[in-house]
Amino acid sequence: MTENVAESNTEGAAVTAPSVPTGSGLDLIGLTKVFPGGTVAVDDVNLHVDHGEYVVLLGPSGCGKTTTLRMIGGHEYPSEGEILLDGQSLVDLPPHKRPTTTVFQHFALFPHRSVLDNVAFGLKMEGLGKSERRARAMEALEMVGLTELSSRKPAALSGGQQQRVALARVLVTKPKALLLDEPLGDLDRLLQLRMRVELRNLQRQLGLMFIHVTHNQEEALSMADRIVVMNEARIQQIADPLTIATKPATELVARFMGDNNIMRGRVTELNGNQFLVEDEHKVRVTARIDGGTVPAVGEQVLVVVRAAAVEVAESGAAEPVANWVECEIVFVEFLGDLVKLHLTAGGERMLAKVPGERYPAFRGKEGEKIRISWKEEDVQLLHA
Ligand SMILES: Nc1ncnc2c1ncn2[C@@H]1O[C@H](COP(=O)(O)OP(=O)(O)OP(=O)(O)O)[C@@H](O)[C@H]1O
Ligand SMILES: [Mg+2]
Repeated sequence: MTENVAESNTEGAAVTAPSVPTGSGLDLIGLTKVFPGGTVAVDDVNLHVDHGEYVVLLGPSGCGKTTTLRMIGGHEYPSEGEILLDGQSLVDLPPHKRPTTTVFQHFALFPHRSVLDNVAFGLKMEGLGKSERRARAMEALEMVGLTELSSRKPAALSGGQQQRVALARVLVTKPKALLLDEPLGDLDRLLQLRMRVELRNLQRQLGLMFIHVTHNQEEALSMADRIVVMNEARIQQIADPLTIATKPATELVARFMGDNNIMRGRVTELNGNQFLVEDEHKVRVTARIDGGTVPAVGEQVLVVVRAAAVEVAESGAAEPVANWVECEIVFVEFLGDLVKLHLTAGGERMLAKVPGERYPAFRGKEGEKIRISWKEEDVQLLHA
């Protein structure tokens, strides 16, 4: 099997080749950062982002998200590679000369200044007169819906309002791209959920390029036009949220996104574009690959099935030919809208997600046997 198996089955799969800059938007070309001491924080990152696009850099701690963002913002100098905005190199410009603005995780507001002065402060570097600074600050406060609170001090605002002041302070400088490093990280969960929607709405209204860094899968899926999944300094996959969630291009993405069943198997039959894969526990799986290079009989592959695509039936029902396995329920996890069933099949851990309404059917069923099955179209084949 060739390198193409993941890609042939995946729209927008792992992208490592440099894109050709179009002259519009942001281009990262072969971007690399090696810190003194030898840590390779970012390794040959290639990415194009359009104006008006909401892109999320997603990956585990230490994978190089912040370093990538800091190079775009001018807070870190690349070891290799190029950063172009509308075809112009940014690499040798200091942060305040770049048409980008960064919103850091801890957005320190000046406690003794009013909301208006906090926002107007962002314009001091530009050498504008006081009345113009105030007019522009009011405009920015209007964008985030805070004009009525312009004379308050930050301490008299809620966490979400403070966050919007921080955003207004950034927007007032009219950047071409907004860079956000874990912008929702400090907020409690309810506020986080609200700010996701607010931030996304604001971005749509402004039509600005947002590049948002997070290690939270759900946040990325809910906010991004496109997600860039990184691991150990490199890009694993670039795609829209639905593709990332349903067609992970690599085992790492499948594992990092969570709630995927990953089985190891060998191709035993090939029929046109349909495969039969048998795993070491004799589970038979059929899959289809349309286009690209196909694996040959005898090759090792990984079978990925999302927990949400798994159906649950009573043990002992009529046996289908493939795509099912007998499991034992290990733990029933009730999560409100859904129930996660932690299962074991021949020593392998499996997961199924069923609607929360079905919780009573599974309560207290730990130790019982069930059958899980899935549809052929929900099977993703990756190379082992
Ligand atoms: N100034 C520095 N000097 C040396 N190594 C650094 C420096 N900054 C970051 N690193 C290392 O580079 C790697 C990437 O760090 P980075 O901060 O970009 O990760 P991250 O993806 O933002 O992680 P997190 O989710 O924890 O914020 C890590 O191994 C980190 O220890
Ligand atoms: Mg970081």
